[in-house]
Order: sequence, then C-alpha cells, then structure tokens
Amino acid sequence: MEYVLAPSILSADFKVLGEQMKMTEEAGAKYLHFDVMDGMFVPSISFGMPVLKSIHGATGQVMDAHLMVQEPIRYVEAFGKAGADIVTVHLEACKDIRRTIREIHGCGMKAGLSVCPKTDVKETEGLLKEIDMLLIMSVHPGFGGQKFIPESLEKIRKARSMAREQGLDLDIQVDGGIYHDNVRDVLDAGVNIVVAGSAVFNGNPAENTRKFMEILENYG
Ligand code: DX5
Ligand code: ZN
Repeated sequence: MEYVLAPSILSADFKVLGEQMKMTEEAGAKYLHFDVMDGMFVPSISFGMPVLKSIHGATGQVMDAHLMVQEPIRYVEAFGKAGADIVTVHLEACKDIRRTIREIHGCGMKAGLSVCPKTDVKETEGLLKEIDMLLIMSVHPGFGGQKFIPESLEKIRKARSMAREQGLDLDIQVDGGIYHDNVRDVLDAGVNIVVAGSAVFNGNPAENTRKFMEILENYG
C-alpha cells in the first residue's frame, strides 16, 4: 500500500500559493488537499472553483477536493472542469449519496466519501464498494489548526476492517490535527492518505513535508 501526504492549502500563504505548492511537491507530497467550505454545511467560507482552476496547473499533484458543502452534487461537474482529480463529499451533506457518487464518476473523477466525527463509520459500510476513498474526519470540519479527536483512531480501525472484510484495498484518508508526532498512530490504525494543513504550512513547507515523507516512506 502506498502512503501519501496531502497538504491542505487552507493554512498556506496565499500570496505565494503556487510556490508553496511546488515546495510540497518537490519534497514528495503527491496530493494537494483543497478544502471547500460553503458557510452552510460548516460555519466558515474558504474558496471554490475559480481558485482551483487557477492553481491546478502550478504542480503535477493530484488535486484532492474536499467539499464541505451542502448538496455538493450541484458543483461536481464544475469542480471537474476546474481540475479536480478526486472529489470527496460528506455523507451528512447529501440527500442521495449514491447518485452523488455516480455523478463524480460520470465526470471522470475519483469519488471520496467523508464522515464527520459524530457519524458512525458503520453508515458507510454499504457504500465502500462504490467509492475510491473514505475520509475519516478527525476534527469537526470547518477550520484548520484544531486538536485531533482521539476517538478517530477507533473509527479508522473499524473502517479498515470493514474494507478488508469486503476484500477491498480501499484508500483511507484522515483529516484534521495531524502532526509529525501523531501521524504514526493514524497509519497504525489503517490510514494510507494523510491530510495535514498547519503541520505543513506553518513554518517551512519544504522541510515540514520532508519530515512527513521520511515517516511515510519508511512506514510498514
Ligand atoms: C478542516 C479541513 C482540514 C484542515 C486540516 O475542516 O478539512 O483539511 O485544513 O488542517 P489541520 O491539519 O491544521 O488540522
Ligand atoms: Zn479537508
């Protein structure tokens, strides 16, 4: 299984976003995590399609769009056109999750499914065969820089075992409060794609990425 770092640009310096993206790419981060917030599903507002369209060519990284948006099906096609490779939607935000997943695949992208800390991961069991990635939120979505919720480890373990029981080599991503000193815990629990915002962009993004990559590349 490949272990991947997905730096979340929510904590980046937008004056020099392209340069910072490039630094993370050169240091080994294969994905770039793009947090979209609508002020409805979550209290805050971040950025959307025009920003993705402008930055997606700045690196060759996989553009991993995390839509913290009510009824995201409305925007799937637009994110595809803007350059997203993966679109992740929240189970809690979709009236018809299967249709939303089909829409993402229909637009030629990988489909991610995310659950908030309060949602039982069991609710995703019947959907695992239809998705490309499961995202376990380890903070309440809406803001960067929050503290990792320790109960997330048990959810990750449960998710990994549900996937195994179905014979799936599923990508499992974790997002929120991940730093160099707790990343091994989430890998041990069963994650293979790690999102990190503050821990990458506060300070030197190249150095911080390299430190993560050292751990990820030597894991297992
Ligand atoms: C939270 C976002 C995260 C966030 C992670 O709602 O989905 O991607 O940027 O930031 P850190 O790593 O600072 O917790
Ligand atoms: Zn995110």
